[in-house]
Amino acid sequence: MKNTIPFLMLLMATFLLVSCKNEKKEKAALYPEIKKSPEEVALALGKEIFDGKGMCYSCHKPNQKVIGPSVADIAKIYKEKGASITDFLTEKSGPIVEPTQYSVMKTNFAITKNLPEDELKALETYILSFSK
Ligand code: HEC
Repeated sequence: MKNTIPFLMLLMATFLLVSCKNEKKEKAALYPEIKKSPEEVALALGKEIFDGKGMCYSCHKPNQKVIGPSVADIAKIYKEKGASITDFLTEKSGPIVEPTQYSVMKTNFAITKNLPEDELKALETYILSFSK
């Protein structure tokens, strides 16, 4: 009987410790973006659109020209000229990378012109990240 009280206290302490730990885990699962910077969030979103619903990846590879110029080449030229990829994708500015092939790229504006501002910015951030 003497040992019952310390034993119960130990049991309660263990229980409290375990429930605290679980709460932390749950929060991390609910808000994974807490750990990411705005730049990282934009990069991840940009990649998702580029490889996903934007279908950009079918014509643009990271370091190699296929149908369209490589992403690295686009990033380099846009950085050098201080030009805006968002403007290009919404037809506010013309082509500066490969103007002779512009008609092939133009078919994509049906997709890009309907993207919200944050997704266009994310695409721009993602593309520019290929040139350091
Ligand atoms: C059907 C193939 C094709 C697809 C799909 C495609 N592109 Fe292109 N893209 C091209 C070609 C060809 C060029 C070269 C012509 C040009 O420079 O405009 C180009 C050029 C570009 C340029 C450089 C523009 C400039 O100033 O010359 C950017 C930026 C670009 N594409 C972004 C994208 C993005 C973002 C997507 C996805 C939403 C995409 N492209 C999907 C073929 C494609």
